[in-house]
Parts: sequence; C-alpha cells; structure tokens
Amino acid sequence: MAASGSPAQRALAANARRNSAGGLNRLWRWRGTRAAAWTLLERHVAPGAAVAVVGAGNGHDLPLRRLGRRAGRLDLVDMDARALQRTRRRLLLSGVRAGTIAEDVTHGLADLVIRNVLARRPVRLPPATAQPIGQATYDVVIADQFLSQLLYPALSDSRISRREVGAAVQAHGQTLTNAAVAGLAASAPGGLLICIEDVLRCGLDHHQPFTIDEVLAEEDPERALELVQRGKLPRGCDGRAALALTGAQVIDRMFWRWPFAPGTNYLVCATVARCTPPAS
Ligand SMILES: C[S@@+](CC[C@H](N)C(=O)[O-])C[C@H]1O[C@@H](n2cnc3c(N)ncnc32)[C@H](O)[C@@H]1O
Repeated sequence: MAASGSPAQRALAANARRNSAGGLNRLWRWRGTRAAAWTLLERHVAPGAAVAVVGAGNGHDLPLRRLGRRAGRLDLVDMDARALQRTRRRLLLSGVRAGTIAEDVTHGLADLVIRNVLARRPVRLPPATAQPIGQATYDVVIADQFLSQLLYPALSDSRISRREVGAAVQAHGQTLTNAAVAGLAASAPGGLLICIEDVLRCGLDHHQPFTIDEVLAEEDPERALELVQRGKLPRGCDGRAALALTGAQVIDRMFWRWPFAPGTNYLVCATVARCTPPAS
C-alpha cells in the first residue's frame, strides 16, 4: 500500500476542472482578499526570503506580484501543472519570475484514500512521515487555501452520496491534513509556515450563527477565533490543529473575507507559526 510517487489522478482531475473554470473575473472580485493578505504577508516575509506558495493554482487569491518582488525566490507549488503555467506567464507579464513545481503535497495519500473510498474498500494509510515539498528548504511556506480541497472535489464529483462524501472526509481528511502540514513544516525548519484556510462558508445555503463582519470587527484575533469555533466549520481540514501537532509556535493570526462567488463568501483564517528549528 505504499503511496509514495503514485499520481493523484482523481484529485488532480477534480482540482484542475475547478481551476480551469475559475475565470479572470475572480482576479477582479478577489482584489480585496489579496490586499488583506498583503497586510499580513508584508509583516512576515523579509526582503530576499525564499518563499513557497502551496496550492497557488490560478494565483488569484494571494498578492503574488508583490510577494515575488519582495522574495528572493518564489516557488509556486500545486498539483495542477497547467494552472501553474498560466499563473507563471501572467506574473512574467508584470516582470515577476516564479518557479513552478507540479507536486501532490500528500505524496499520493489523497488519491489512495479516494480510490479506496470509491471502491468501498477499507482505507489503510501508511505511517505518516513529514516529507518536505518543492525545492526545500524555504524561509516561508504558505499553505494557500488547499487543505479543504485534498479530498472533497474528487469525492463530490463522484457517484457516491453526499452522506458518504461527508463520512469519508470526516474519517480521513484530518489525517491527510496533518501529513500535508507536517511536510510543509519540514520544508521550513526554523522558518515560518503561514497556514491560510477557508474556515467558514456563508451564503444563502450556509447560515452561520454570526456574520463575517462580526468576526472581522473583533480586534483580538484569538477572541475572533473563539467566535469562529461556534460556527459550522468544515470537517477534516483543520490546519490550526495540524500546525499544533508539528510543534510550531503561533506568532500571528489574521482574518479576512473571500468573496468566492456572487452570494457566497468565505471567512479566511491565516495563522503564522514559527517551525521547529533543525536539530543541531
Ligand atoms: C481553492 S484552490 C486555492 C486558490 C488558488 N490559490 C487561487 O488563487 O486560485 C486550491 C488549490 O490547491 C491545489 N491542490 C489541491 N490538492 C492538492 C495537493 N494534494 N497537492 C498540491 N496542490 C493541491 C488545487 O489544484 C488548487 O489549485
């Protein structure tokens, strides 16, 4: 059952479908999201830093141009090579060079889960190892809103019921999230891991017991997080819990709005943590 090296075919196909449907109008609609992200990133990304953005995809939700100008090296990592190429070309038009690395940061585990769930076979994952990603090591690794997408797109595009999708994500999602985040932390020993997550969905079909504005109005980010925990959070993709397991020390947190589609907003939570330094 070794997962290492196996291509994440179903997860890739489902994510690539979504990326190719994400038109340039998102770039305009998400401009406030990028501006909010920059207020956090400019505090933590030092000039000349080696930076990896994992889940960069279409490059619409983070200020990659500004990040590329600040960084000494910017690597965009995603399982969807075509989306990365489009993003790299767009950045080049504004004079920013980025490396692209097409990689499944679960190293085949996501597809292993998906194949077995769809075949209604038991899922046995190999013991977790923290495998570095990209061209590690980095000063800063950014997890760019991909943790919720490890299993859900491929399972929800399949023929299994919504209940089965939910059960599979609940059973296996957090194990995958923990493994992926451990790999990112291993890629920045002593550096920063910035975990950006879509923590709450709000819209006509998703009511929460509070509004995004109420969370954003809270000045203390830890109090804001307490409020968020009272909402209907997605299961099996908790990056904050995964970060804690790596032993990384949280040094900053910020929330912002992500106007995903007309009528659907997400609340984004970005957690900045200092990874454990390499053993001397
Ligand atoms: C919701 S998108 C993030 C938004 C994206 N940064 C943008 O601006 O369009 C999630 C991204 O994570 C990528 N992804 C999902 N699972 C992955 C995995 N196991 N390894 C690497 N990338 C993955 C998807 O291909 C997709 O591009």
